[in-house]
Amino acid sequence: MTETRRKQGKSVFIRTYGCQMNVYDSERMAGLLKPLGYGLADAPDDADLVILNTCHIREKAAEKVYSELGRLKKMKSEKARAGGDMKIAVAGCVAQAEGPEITARARHVDMVVGPQAYHRLPELLARAARDDGDILETDFAVDEKFDRLAKRSADGPTAFLTIQEGCDKFCTFCVVPYTRGAEVSRGVDAIVAEARALAAQGVREITLLGQNVNAWRSAAPSGESGARWGLGELCRHLAKIDGIERIRFTTSHPRDMDDGLIAALGEETKLMPYLHLPVQAGSDKILKAMNRGHTAAHYIRQIEQIRAARPDIAISGDFIVGFPGETNEDFEGTLALVEEIGYASAYSFKYSRRPGTPGAVMPKQVAEPEKDERLARLQTLLEAQRRDFNQRQIGGVLPVLFEKPGRHEGQLIGRSPYLQSVHVTAPQSMLGSIAPVRIDDTTPNALAGVLVKQGEAAA
Ligand code: 5AD
Ligand code: SF4
Repeated sequence: MTETRRKQGKSVFIRTYGCQMNVYDSERMAGLLKPLGYGLADAPDDADLVILNTCHIREKAAEKVYSELGRLKKMKSEKARAGGDMKIAVAGCVAQAEGPEITARARHVDMVVGPQAYHRLPELLARAARDDGDILETDFAVDEKFDRLAKRSADGPTAFLTIQEGCDKFCTFCVVPYTRGAEVSRGVDAIVAEARALAAQGVREITLLGQNVNAWRSAAPSGESGARWGLGELCRHLAKIDGIERIRFTTSHPRDMDDGLIAALGEETKLMPYLHLPVQAGSDKILKAMNRGHTAAHYIRQIEQIRAARPDIAISGDFIVGFPGETNEDFEGTLALVEEIGYASAYSFKYSRRPGTPGAVMPKQVAEPEKDERLARLQTLLEAQRRDFNQRQIGGVLPVLFEKPGRHEGQLIGRSPYLQSVHVTAPQSMLGSIAPVRIDDTTPNALAGVLVKQGEAAA
């Protein structure tokens, strides 16, 4: 969860839950409201408008929204008693999935706006000011949304850039195809324009976002070779933009990992050697029940192919334990797959029953204590792999992009190609630049190192 802060004139407080695409969307909402005179508020109680940009992926994430709405109700009535006004908007995937329920359960919510409709926030605000009753906007109009968003303003040397939204895969545990809609790709020209604008503002690293980012497909721009491009071609094209030094993309699906993208990973040095490729489970029976469309062996072969193309690549993943029907033996399959791949980092979750998804009504739901036990075992293994991966960097030199000042005087925090935080003693003037760092220590969540002086051997 992240919070967007600062105060000037009329103000908006945005609380962001969930994935990186929500972080991107929150930033775009702030940009949309700026011309209307809204600065960013430090805290919700200061704000004229509070937006909760919500996540529906697991039950816990959705529940948080209702408890936050409870707190906001009190603030809103205190503000009203003092003669002020606070509008409350629920945006994001809970808005999309539970819109009418939100307006019924939380009468103090003024606006409910889905992830494909937030470009209409200015109109909705005007309607809310007229007190138009329940305002519910959950249409899917992705193209219109991107056309109507304000120009980006960058905040630091790294930025997210949404290139694809939605999902047609219908994994049986997942709400995304229902909350974010069908797969839609933005066109090359719009993406390039956004990337150029970011580069002009000092952005050095872009992370291309999509629920199925490697399902991105679009017509090649005129004058370029090929008729239809995939993500590999797009990355090579974006790598030509001056100032953009690093390109990442997330989240990929094994079914869309095509040869063109693997070749680009092997050849385009601006593409970072780090790939988030979720597999979810290691048993073919469970993968089938999840409707993943691939087997464990297929995934392992694919990783071998990617590693052959880009030997320094690190792999990260997502896992679910306790999907309906998962036996101990199936779970052992997940552990075996993790042992075989060796992950640099990973996210793992207990299966959460989501209303409306096929998994929710499958027989043989796994008991909670069993899920707890499996999650603990899986996380112990993944954590050991992450520690090993970090330890292996000690003594080596990694290029680090310096993003922000550290907590100690004279210290900067940057990122390695593998997304590890790196703490380095370095002058402020190096913020936004990339420099080689010799790694000499690791802590549970970060690496530490020293700048490699010019002329010193970089190996
Ligand atoms: N229960 C638990 N985890 C889930 N994810 C998606 N849906 C569920 C669910 N119902 C996880 C998957 C996905 C990540 C973003 O969230 O691992 O890759
Ligand atoms: Fe959800 Fe599966 Fe689509 Fe990923 S690929 S968003 S897990 S349905």
